[in-house]
Amino acid sequence: MTPPLLPGSDALRAREYAWEARGDAIHFDHASVGPVPQRAVDAVGAFNLKRAEPHRLRAEDFNPILERGRALSAGLIGATAGEIALVTNTSWGVNLAAYALPLGPGDVVLGSEGEFPANVYPWMAAAKARGFTFELLPHVEGAADEATILRRIDTDPAVRAVALSWVSFWSGARVDLGRIGHACRDRGIWFAVDAIQGLGAAELDVGATPVDVLSCGAQKWLCAPWGSGFAYVRDGLLQQLEPPAAGWLAQASSGDFGAFLDYDPTWHADARRFEVGTIPYQDIVGMNECLALLLELGPARIEAHVRALADRLIAWAAAAPGVRLLTPRDQARRAGIVAFVTGDVPGDSARLRAARITHSVREGAIRLAPHFHNTPDEVDRAIAALTR
Ligand SMILES: Cc1ncc(COP(=O)(O)O)c(C=O)c1O
Repeated sequence: MTPPLLPGSDALRAREYAWEARGDAIHFDHASVGPVPQRAVDAVGAFNLKRAEPHRLRAEDFNPILERGRALSAGLIGATAGEIALVTNTSWGVNLAAYALPLGPGDVVLGSEGEFPANVYPWMAAAKARGFTFELLPHVEGAADEATILRRIDTDPAVRAVALSWVSFWSGARVDLGRIGHACRDRGIWFAVDAIQGLGAAELDVGATPVDVLSCGAQKWLCAPWGSGFAYVRDGLLQQLEPPAAGWLAQASSGDFGAFLDYDPTWHADARRFEVGTIPYQDIVGMNECLALLLELGPARIEAHVRALADRLIAWAAAAPGVRLLTPRDQARRAGIVAFVTGDVPGDSARLRAARITHSVREGAIRLAPHFHNTPDEVDRAIAALTR
C-alpha cells in the first residue's frame, strides 16, 4: 500500500506539481489563482479528448461527473450532496443569496466595508430591485466589525440577513463564522458567506457552523479550473427559496430526455433547483480531482500546514523593521493570506518576482498566500528575497 500523501511532502510535489519540485517557481498566490494539480490536468485532458470526438462520450461522462462534484463539495464542508448546486463562480452563489432569500422593503442586510466587490455589487443591485437596504458597516483594521454586527443583530429588528466573506482578500482577516452564524441562527436571521478566500486553506463544517448560503469559486484555494465552484444552501431553507433564475435543468422533470415538451415548472427538491443550464463538465472533472486531493490530504492536516507556513511569515513581518503587518497575528483570525506593507512595496514585489515567487499586491500591500503543497523552505526564500 502506498503511504498517504502529506501536505508539503516531496511525494506530493513530485506527483502533483512537477514544475514546483523542479524549482521553476514558488507559488504564493493562491488568493488569486491556485495551481491545478497534475491529476486534474490529466483528467481534464482525457475528458477534452473525448469531448473533441463526442462519439467517445459515454453516459458516465455526464450526470455522474456532476453528482461526484456535488458529493465531493458536500464532503469538504460537511453538507449533503442535495444541499450543493454547482456554479461557475462565487458571484453566482452571492447573487443566489441576494435575490432568493426572503427579503423586501423594510429589511436590512448587513455587510462590511473592505469586502471584495463580488460580495457587494450583487447585494447593492438586489437591494435596489427588491427594496431592502444593504448597509456596509465600517471595518476595523481590515476585519469585519463582529462586535457591531452582533449588537445590530441583537438590537435592530430590521436586520434580516448578514453577508460576509469568510476571509478578507486584502488583509487576510478571518471572520468567526461560528460566532456570527450562531447569533444569526438564534434570531432567525439569514447568514450568507463568500467562502472563496478561506475554503481549502481552512476547515469548515456547516453541521457545526450555521451558514444558510455559502458560495465558493474553486479557482483559488481549491486549485481547480476556472469555471468551477459550488454554492451550498441549507436543507430546509432551500425548498423555501424561489430560484432567482429559471432553467430547464433546474426543473425536476429535466431528467426525462424523452419528454422535453411536457413542460412542468416544478423545481428540483434539492439544490439543483439553482443550476440553470448545462454545466461546464470539463471544469467539474478538474474540480473533482482537486477536491479528491484535498480530501485525501485531509482538511485538518492542510489547515495545520498552512497555518505553520503563515506563522513563519507572520513572525518575520511582525519583527522586520519598517514592515507593517495587516493580517491579524491571532491564528484563529487568519487562514492562508498574509499581507503586509513594506517601505518599498513596488521594489519588494519586483524582488519577489525576480526570485520567481508569485504573489499579489492588493490595496497597497504585498499579499502572500501559501498552501498545502508549499514548504517552510519556500517561505524562508520569500523572506530572504524581502530582507535587505
Ligand atoms: C472574497 C472574494 N470573493 C469572490 C472573488 C471572485 O469571485 P468570482 O469567483 O465570482 O470571480 C474573489 C477574488 O477574485 C474574492 O477575493
